[in-house]
Amino acid sequence: MRVVFVCLGNICRSPLAEGILRYLVAQKGWQSQIEVDSAGTGAWHAGEPPDRRSIAVAKSHGVSLDGQRARQVTDSDYFESNWLIAMDKNNLSTLERRSPTRGTQARIELLMAAPRGEHQDVPDPYYGGDQGFEEVYQLVWRGCEGLLEQIEQELNR
Ligand code: 4NP
Repeated sequence: MRVVFVCLGNICRSPLAEGILRYLVAQKGWQSQIEVDSAGTGAWHAGEPPDRRSIAVAKSHGVSLDGQRARQVTDSDYFESNWLIAMDKNNLSTLERRSPTRGTQARIELLMAAPRGEHQDVPDPYYGGDQGFEEVYQLVWRGCEGLLEQIEQELNR
């Protein structure tokens, strides 16, 4: 199973989602079964580490974003992933438009889509304050818990 989280810049939201799902997967001891990555629809921040505010909020909850570097989504993400998980509806529509279509296996979904959430976006916190990052953290944590349950059901099928 391979999961790639996708936001716009791959420096704020999707790095948090990657760190949180890795943390939850490690808690269950499933690292050999579930591969986790993240990417951005845009390339402006390629090569950069996550935003320091994402690193800080993750750290305050015991989650590490060490070693992460931003990158843009590639065709391989569509061919080699089971899930491409978008943070908001803009990311979702960009991913759908960009799809190389033939032979892709990835399912493209919103992180907070039912049954995991309430069909809401994870808001872009880039231009806001620290409180926005805490809210994003809480939303992404809930979304990742739900996603892991869904993945677990599929692994057991
Ligand atoms: P992200 O946040 O998509 O959660 O990584 C953003 C990061 C950078 C920009 C926008 C959103 N930007 O415009 O540079």
